Amino acid sequence: MSGVNKNIVILISGSGSNMAAIVKTAQKHHWREQFGARVAAVISNKAQAKGLEFAHEQGIATAVLDHKAFANREAFDAELMTAIDRHAPALVVLAGFMRILTPGFVQHYAGRLINIHPSLLPAFTGLNTHQRAIDMGCKFAGVTVHRVTAELDHGDILDQAVVPVLPGDTAQTLAARALTQEHIIYPRTVERLLGEIASSIKG
Ligand code: GAR
Repeated sequence: MSGVNKNIVILISGSGSNMAAIVKTAQKHHWREQFGARVAAVISNKAQAKGLEFAHEQGIATAVLDHKAFANREAFDAELMTAIDRHAPALVVLAGFMRILTPGFVQHYAGRLINIHPSLLPAFTGLNTHQRAIDMGCKFAGVTVHRVTAELDHGDILDQAVVPVLPGDTAQTLAARALTQEHIIYPRTVERLLGEIASSIKG
């Protein structure tokens, strides 16, 4: 396939390790040649997000939009949409983007918006998922990639991975174990969706 016509925009708030895993898989699996796809931009709501450095080093466009500078969620999301839409994305990938999105934003990207969540949804929506799994005595925990709908951490499940909860686990040790699985299933899901988009275009 010649030319790049499927842009991916990734939103982060922190270390961006999932974003980096996606960028590395895009390179390793030749998404440009296979699907005409590339990670076009990484946008953060936090200027200090570590992932921005990695993205910049990779030659990916970066932008920071500080949510605190906006009067309300609607105003922030409107500006965020403008920043994202500059890249006309085929997929918008939330990778540790710690903001609740307005229904208007979610609607605007319907069918193109995915998220990774650190639990086996529908269990443990929201925050502190690993600590809550430990507190409940769960023997297994995990991670979920899902489509984003207006309801927080709901939407069709696209992929999941399970990890054991081991004796003596803390939220940190469990999170680290789960994160290694995130780095496998998130790039894999994005790649699958790119394949689906490519075959739907070929029709
Ligand atoms: C990941 O564990 C992701 O599942 C979680 O934030 C972390 C981001 O790590 N996301 C959420 O909690 C969303 N509600 P990363 O910045 O290294 O990719």
